Amino acid sequence: MEKIVQQQAYPFKHLVNFPQEFERVYTWSSVVEAYQAMKVYPETRKIIEIGCGQAGVAAIQNMSFGCEIWLIDGNNPGDRTFGYEHAGSMEHYSTWHDLPETMERWGCDMSKIHFIDIPTAPSYDFPIVDLIQSFRSCGYHYPLSAYEFLFTKQNNDTRYLFTITDKQLKKEPGYLKDFEIESKQPQIGATKINYYYMRSKK
Ligand SMILES: C[S@@+](CC[C@H](N)C(=O)[O-])C[C@H]1O[C@@H](n2cnc3c(N)ncnc32)[C@H](O)[C@@H]1O
Repeated sequence: MEKIVQQQAYPFKHLVNFPQEFERVYTWSSVVEAYQAMKVYPETRKIIEIGCGQAGVAAIQNMSFGCEIWLIDGNNPGDRTFGYEHAGSMEHYSTWHDLPETMERWGCDMSKIHFIDIPTAPSYDFPIVDLIQSFRSCGYHYPLSAYEFLFTKQNNDTRYLFTITDKQLKKEPGYLKDFEIESKQPQIGATKINYYYMRSKK
């Protein structure tokens, strides 16, 4: 799988120049996720990503598709949730402070990347975006409702992409009531998590 994805992706000039460190960090899944999202929602130009981690998907959406992206994450274990509990040490994800420098080194257009620390998100003046996405974070490690303040400020055209399990989604009936599932795809390599492409019903 890895080989096929890389062969398909590498003709894109931006990806050819990715440094080796990027290839180490989830490259193939980031490529698949970024291209899948842009294929499903090709008009996407503005994105909010909740729990971006090392921001591989956002980097590709920025470099290959010119997207402007608002990234929400942080380093403080007290602000982060893992498996519906407060995260202890998550050193493997502790790249938040280095992320601006790292993304610049990868070749991102930094004028189109914004960093929002988790505790400041509720008071941050987010724009209306085309897509709110969260991979293995919102809805997976903590409930979708944690970011309700963000969803309610968007408009009818905003689309949503979450990786969650069917079981988790059923636990939040309010969200099945508020969101309409436009399509669902299984996640490559993790059978229980699905990609839910959704729109708000409001
Ligand atoms: C399993 S990682 C996934 C990272 C990345 N999206 C990926 O797929 O590689 C979960 C991420 O969610 C972040 N996170 C945890 N609690 C959060 C919260 N309340 N708000 C935003 N991000 C959070 C963690 O810091 C971590 O980067």
